[in-house]
Amino acid sequence: MSDKLSYWDYVGVDTLLNLQKPKTDFEDEHIFIIYHQISELFFRLIINELKLLTDDNKKEFLDYRNWIKRLGRVINNFNILTNSISILMPEFSVFSKAHQILNDSEISTISVSCFDNQQFLKFRQALVPASGFQSFQYRTIEIMSTQLQNLVHPSKKDDLKNENDIENIYQNLYWKYGARIVKDDNLSNPDLLEKAETLIEFENKYDSYFLDLAKEYENKNLLSLYQKYITDINSENSKKVRDVLKYYDTIVNRHYKGVHYGLAYAHLKDTTGTGGTNWHQYLSISKNEISFFE
Ligand code: HEM
Repeated sequence: MSDKLSYWDYVGVDTLLNLQKPKTDFEDEHIFIIYHQISELFFRLIINELKLLTDDNKKEFLDYRNWIKRLGRVINNFNILTNSISILMPEFSVFSKAHQILNDSEISTISVSCFDNQQFLKFRQALVPASGFQSFQYRTIEIMSTQLQNLVHPSKKDDLKNENDIENIYQNLYWKYGARIVKDDNLSNPDLLEKAETLIEFENKYDSYFLDLAKEYENKNLLSLYQKYITDINSENSKKVRDVLKYYDTIVNRHYKGVHYGLAYAHLKDTTGTGGTNWHQYLSISKNEISFFE
């Protein structure tokens, strides 16, 4: 048997192609699973960059050039995710560049259904209570990026502004008030809404992991490392890092979240989310504003 390394073994192609296990016969469920898997792989790339930049032993964070390199990669990856959202869109113009390429071609005006909304609305019933809300990697990126205080639910910020206990702060993070069941449309105070199974399952699985991570990153999240090491160096370079951080904040908390909200709206319109949740209030970037580096 040849012991030469092959592309298919090195990349694990067979494993990769066997990771899709649809729950129904709807053909577009494949797209749904694969795009979530792609997103998780991009989150993995992003976390790797954040780990390298914040590593206590390597101390890359002391040199402003590493901030630009690592966050540049993180931003590129989030941009790819933001721009690729069309894969899950019920209707999207796919030939928009044809106008330039084919000289006034009419196909540039054609939109297609990239992902079948009618199929989705049917097969999503089979997935409850699984939801992208349960992406632990997305939460990891947040905790590595900023002080826990900045992730507190807007309605709790004032009460907790002098709180130092990580466990108390953690219980009030903004997403702990998402995935709550809406029983009465007039009742919008998330405190009064019951947790959906999506949230309960997620907490059961990850609460202790997130708490450990929050303790580990209390003094080495991006914001705290920036405040400790970068504000003091030559101001030109510090400004470059600050601009990159601001851009990162906008890309994640406005662009990425904004297109995701648009995606949810395109599919769910005015209905409730997975398990009857308050997703309209929760996903709206203006009603539930989060910023890593205010
Ligand atoms: C058709 C596609 C999608 C729809 C309709 C959708 C819908 C939703 C809804 C309604 C929520 C709020 C929680 C809930 O009520 O369950 C949510 C949260 C979330 N989803 Fe999606 N989603 C889609 C695709 C994705 C993809 C591809 C990802 C990538 C992994 C993702 C990641 C997330 C995350 C991270 C949250 C929490 C957001 C936050 O805390 O701000 N979703 N999604």
